[in-house]
Amino acid sequence: MMKDLSLASLLDQSWVILKTLRSAKLSERVITLATVDPKGQPQVCMVVLRSIKRDKSMLEFHTDADSLKYTSLLREPKAQILIWRPDVSVQLRISVEIDVYCDVKSQKLWAQVPGPSQISYGKSPPTGHSISAPFDYENMASIEKFAVAECTIQKIDFLSLGQTHHRAQFLRIDNWTGQWISP
Ligand SMILES: Cc1cc2nc3c(=O)[nH]c(=O)nc-3n(C[C@H](O)[C@H](O)[C@H](O)COP(=O)(O)O)c2cc1C
Repeated sequence: MMKDLSLASLLDQSWVILKTLRSAKLSERVITLATVDPKGQPQVCMVVLRSIKRDKSMLEFHTDADSLKYTSLLREPKAQILIWRPDVSVQLRISVEIDVYCDVKSQKLWAQVPGPSQISYGKSPPTGHSISAPFDYENMASIEKFAVAECTIQKIDFLSLGQTHHRAQFLRIDNWTGQWISP
């Protein structure tokens, strides 16, 4: 039987997916992030989804202030987040504008970062630099390199490839009303 679909229910489902992801165990709490580097080259990587706020349409991840994505986002704050949930056969492509900061505001959050995660921030030599052997680096667990990325959602593209194929887009500027799209 064909499900009775509404745009509002798809938007709710998008947030349920994000909420489920946020409460998953650390190794499964990952999202794919696409940025554009200063040379115009797209760069895709995985990051851990640290928090979600539906009322503010915000997602958050953390990174190292020496990473390419940090410098890329300072220059080009537009990015896209990709999520695929095989359990519900839904792909979410979430267009965001990202405000990255590494200052007193991020330092206030440092105490909430679990110890094993703190070692991810700050490397010597800095992340991305050439080294002559695989372990010629040190983890600095550095509060000065701990950066927070606040992602404000501009658009959600919802694609279902389950029993029925359907697609919709939700825009912030349309107050998330939604629009059906041919899949
Ligand atoms: C499962 C997984 C989770 C990751 N989580 C993060 C993360 O939360 N933040 C981060 O900056 N990098 C994370 N990474 C590493 C990035 O994908 C990337 O390799 C690294 O940040 C270097 O990126 P750059 O090219 O921007 O310097 C993770 C990688 C994997 C495989």
